[in-house]
Amino acid sequence: MRANAINDLGAAVRTGQRKGAAATPQVVSAGTSLREAVLAARAAGDTVGLVPTMGALHEGHLSLVDAARTECDLTVVSIFVNPSQFSPQEDFARYPRDLDRDLSLLEEHGCDLVFAPAVEEMYRSGDTTTIDVGPLAEALEGKSRPTHFRGVATVVMKLFQFAPAGYAYFGQKDYQQTLVVEQMVRDLAVPIEIRVCPTVREPDGLAMSSRNAYLSGGERRSAAQLSQSLRLAEQLVASGEHDVAAIRAKMEELLRRTDGVDLEYVAFVADGTITPVTTINGPTVVALAAKIGKTRLIDNLRIG
Ligand code: PAJ
Repeated sequence: MRANAINDLGAAVRTGQRKGAAATPQVVSAGTSLREAVLAARAAGDTVGLVPTMGALHEGHLSLVDAARTECDLTVVSIFVNPSQFSPQEDFARYPRDLDRDLSLLEEHGCDLVFAPAVEEMYRSGDTTTIDVGPLAEALEGKSRPTHFRGVATVVMKLFQFAPAGYAYFGQKDYQQTLVVEQMVRDLAVPIEIRVCPTVREPDGLAMSSRNAYLSGGERRSAAQLSQSLRLAEQLVASGEHDVAAIRAKMEELLRRTDGVDLEYVAFVADGTITPVTTINGPTVVALAAKIGKTRLIDNLRIG
């Protein structure tokens, strides 16, 4: 860990390391220090963009940082592997963590402030309040991860309190997560604008994910077929096939032929919702989840 943590009020603002200067981002671990820095920046008339992450940064995360930098005067990235969004059987303990590498990447991308709290900073003993967005959290991902979105919504709300930014950046890669966050912001009148940025992919189409690091060589090759199956859906629609059952069957066939892919779901929903469609006659999102060996991956594509 670098020794440039700041604790005094508004220090990030005073260092003049905003937009344009390539310098090591300031690292803050106390939520109150972060809030003071963000409020000071906003009082000085700067726009602030927040990029929530769990670290192990890749080009997908960095595209969000780039978007924040383009649109805002001050870019804040949070790095926190949030225990409450993992179930006990999931990979919280082995989730990749490398703060020094993350900080170098954030420096290259001109991030101003990094919030890297300890678990005890985000979850005080005696905390009991959680955020439940309702049915949106129960479908698709929520079926196999019933407590996941409660953990996401709760931690994102806390991040919004510690970093009262004007804009927050999320990836289309986690489609349902973007809907959950947007619903929470609407329902609880949170004064922040949510920006959703496109999915960044490897050259063979695999959506970038911190969890791709778990894949063996063979699994990595199989994983590329997930995005290929989404492309297949897109091509079928472009060639005039609008029947979801027919498209789904072709996708499933492709994935059945691929070694080691254990498909959990393929869902066709109206864009911006989790409402299933049976015919494609408007903007639609195809979302899927599959296990490749022990690694669970998700991806989605807007079609139609
Ligand atoms: P994490 O998986 O680290 O992702 C952080 C952000 O990066 C999310 O908004 C995610 O959608 C986005 N992202 C991940 N892969 C991407 C890709 N290939 N292209 C574009 N964006 C991508 O999502 C989380 O963390 C957590 O749930 C969090 C919101 C931080 C709450 O703990």
